[in-house]
Amino acid sequence: MNWDHARRILAWDGRRAAAVPAGPLRRPAPGPGTHARSLCIASGKGGTGKSVVTASLAAVLAETRRVLVIDADLGVGNAHILQDVAPEHSLVDLVEGRAGPRDVVAHCGQNLDLLAAGSGVSHVASLEPWEMSLVAGAVSEIEREYDWVLVDSGAGISTQTVALAAACDRVLLVTTPDVTALTDAYAFLKVLLQRDPRAAPCFVVNRATSEAEATQVAERLRGAAHKFLARDVRCLGWLPDDRAVVRCVNARAPVVRREPTAPFAAGLRELAAVVERDFAAGPSLGLGARLGRSVGPA
Ligand SMILES: Nc1ncnc2c1ncn2[C@@H]1O[C@H](COP(=O)(O)OP(=O)(O)O)[C@@H](O)[C@H]1O
Ligand SMILES: [Mg+2]
Repeated sequence: MNWDHARRILAWDGRRAAAVPAGPLRRPAPGPGTHARSLCIASGKGGTGKSVVTASLAAVLAETRRVLVIDADLGVGNAHILQDVAPEHSLVDLVEGRAGPRDVVAHCGQNLDLLAAGSGVSHVASLEPWEMSLVAGAVSEIEREYDWVLVDSGAGISTQTVALAAACDRVLLVTTPDVTALTDAYAFLKVLLQRDPRAAPCFVVNRATSEAEATQVAERLRGAAHKFLARDVRCLGWLPDDRAVVRCVNARAPVVRREPTAPFAAGLRELAAVVERDFAAGPSLGLGARLGRSVGPA
């Protein structure tokens, strides 16, 4: 398969898309020219809490806005588990030509949809540029129907992962107090800023045992970014280490829904308020278009 194949799939999907309505949405879609705000939830290291943060952030934003979660952990995604849905199709089917963009949209609840990543499919963990272009085309086609697109990123600093983050309006890094998570968060920052010097990444400290620990961790990352990258990187807050998270993962539900009074849920709501207040304003260039330009043929 190659770029021509990709274009054929896109054209085919475009024709089908007109006939298939999207899932039920609370409000009419924004007019032409408007795009969803996109936020990539990333980290250098796996297991820092990207997916649990994305699941709860999506649930909070979906209380008032239309939200699309893109599980970008291709081939090993688990965002569908955290929303307790079993999507019929995933981005793997899209890339391999078995499904169109709207076939891949899984409805997770009021105002909340998901593009699943597919799981147990090792050969898509790294996509070719033309395959990324197919994903970009699909996102372009549907993103105007949402207010927010949240990208639940894969771990690591691969070209694919960083390209997706750089194409989003904002990047929220999730680190834990572990020195390995901090080191990898710094590595992600460095590579992201090399790729897109205009990016304004920020971060949240997850699994902190106290505010004092979170502050100390935040200062370390901010200090390293200031000293070695000459950048001021904002910390949006912290989330406590909380057994409720583990219980909710095992119950396949976002913490804010299943255990709304848990300390993690309270921290998450504060984080969501900052995201809504500080990131919602201003025009978005559109995730699909930006991604398509960054991975497309010269
Ligand atoms: N704040 C937290 N408190 C307790 N456990 C957490 C917390 N955040 C994450 N975890 C644990 O870490 C695991 C991995 O989280 P996940 O979001 O899947 O990581 P990632 O998406 O970054 O790989 C979760 O299943 C949960 O057990
Ligand atoms: Mg994950």
